[in-house]
Amino acid sequence: MTSINTHEIDIVKAKTSKIDSVDFENLTFGNVFTDHMLVCDYKDGAWEKPIIKPYEHFMIDPSAKVFHYGQAIFEGMKAYKDENDEVWLFRPDQNMERFNKSAVRMAMPEVPEHIFMDGLKTIVDLERNWVKKGIGNTLYLRPFMIAVGSGVIAQPSTQYRFMIILSPAKSYYQGEVKVIIAEHYSRAANGGIGAAKAAGNYSAQFYPQKLAQEKGFQQIIWTDDATHTKLEEAGTMNVFFKINDTLYTAPTSERILDGVTRKSIIDLAKSEGIKIEVRSVLVDELVAAAKDGSLKEIFGAGTAAVVSPIVGFQYKEHYYELPKIENSTALQLKDKLTKIQYKLADDKFGWTVKV
Ligand code: COI
Repeated sequence: MTSINTHEIDIVKAKTSKIDSVDFENLTFGNVFTDHMLVCDYKDGAWEKPIIKPYEHFMIDPSAKVFHYGQAIFEGMKAYKDENDEVWLFRPDQNMERFNKSAVRMAMPEVPEHIFMDGLKTIVDLERNWVKKGIGNTLYLRPFMIAVGSGVIAQPSTQYRFMIILSPAKSYYQGEVKVIIAEHYSRAANGGIGAAKAAGNYSAQFYPQKLAQEKGFQQIIWTDDATHTKLEEAGTMNVFFKINDTLYTAPTSERILDGVTRKSIIDLAKSEGIKIEVRSVLVDELVAAAKDGSLKEIFGAGTAAVVSPIVGFQYKEHYYELPKIENSTALQLKDKLTKIQYKLADDKFGWTVKV
């Protein structure tokens, strides 16, 4: 291993790379990780110097709070390579901001910019060979923080570990996406942690999601916990509905994640002259629109999912198939978004950041 000591980050390079053993054409989302990881520990009220080192297992005390109380948060981001071999991040400031909001909500320390952003750029730069060219090829970036302090007293930890791991990724969903609309289970409630990217928000969905998958559905569209009448988000992505010629998406709230792709899609739609309204869509409204033919499209938007068209939804044991549309709004917006991300179109919004 070679040791490099930059001013802010220590780098210990792996002796060998596993990159040649990876089949980049046949990746399952989130299964392969690059050669290095970033680690930064927090103790005695301060962050230590981050280190980038070979990807490896590590030890934590079995009583660490992350295991017992789920004090853990994360982000999902991507790096893209352009035609000139330059590597780009997409709106990383938004992820850093959301990460620190999640940290506050979970009683965890905020991660300063010189650790989050400089750490991210340094590790992505080191792993730039893992970012493959061509639309659809990305390096998925997973910054996360866990409570590593020991002791099962139900109080926030005093010790934390911030890490970044990287995984080459293609699409999240393979094949068609069909969804069920939640009638009983909820993703989040007012006053809860729905707006935070907290690990528990995702594991809480696993059981209802398993039931949905057993019935042949890939995802659940969550409804509000109080009345189950308002459509909210799909857990791995925010959702958009096209009824007649207008796109609708729910406003962010204490229950809905403020998705970076969601807000980018809203801005792109506006700049393309597509009618868009940020307002709650009622389940009854969706069912009526599916019945009278005015429901044209449903699609999800998220970092991992990018823009994923939904082919149909089930509600109260009835399945509603969506019309097959050639040049759908979902695919038009996906094309605009990905062209910006891969530097194939002018980035008039200033969203892309060079590594
Ligand atoms: C992302 O889109 O990056 C997410 O965080 C969703 C994740 C559960 C795959």
